[in-house]
Amino acid sequence: MKSRTAIYPGTFDPITNGHLDIIKRAARLFDSVIIAVSNNIQKKPLFDIDERTELVRIAVQDIDNVAIDSFDDLLVNYVSAKKADAVIRGLRVISDFEYEFQMALMNRKLLPDIETVYLMPSEEHIYISSSIVKEVGRYGGNISCFLPPEIETALRNKLRMVKKIW
Ligand code: COA
Repeated sequence: MKSRTAIYPGTFDPITNGHLDIIKRAARLFDSVIIAVSNNIQKKPLFDIDERTELVRIAVQDIDNVAIDSFDDLLVNYVSAKKADAVIRGLRVISDFEYEFQMALMNRKLLPDIETVYLMPSEEHIYISSSIVKEVGRYGGNISCFLPPEIETALRNKLRMVKKIW
């Protein structure tokens, strides 16, 4: 039987425990999962693409069937190039739905064969996003329950560095 590959795209600025929750669920459902870090410069990420990719690599090193890549293209082009079977997206709250619906339909218009699979993280991760974690960290709040320890250290160092530049 053909092995099934899913792509989990995102900006991952930085990867959080919420993303990891989705990745672990996807890794149980598919033979392989490619975490595709989008360059997404319009979002003005705190970490550059190489840093984000490296942080993802560190965070998922214990999950066997996961590969890490980056892309700077339309998601549909990337999915076609990888001959992937599905795109994974996390659905946290009702407000995610509208954006996800729009994106899935646009992607399907561009690439009719594309399938998007939505996974729900466990409830303790439902309210987090990379931005909110960065915001709490910027003002010295406790972020240790939202990030793997290595990612927390990297974020604290980055925020300290950026503060010096400001
Ligand atoms: N746990 C915690 N946070 C989560 C999460 C989860 N399970 N799922 C999503 N989030 C957060 C993300 O960290 C992100 O936070 P931020 O906005 O503070 O950075 C936010 O929710 C939105 O996540 P997402 O919708 O995945 O956006 P993204 O910026 O991470 O990724 C792309 C968007 C990269 C998938 C999309 O822009 C894309 O496909 N780009 C390629 C170009 C393209 O094809 N565009 C046309 C699309 S129709």
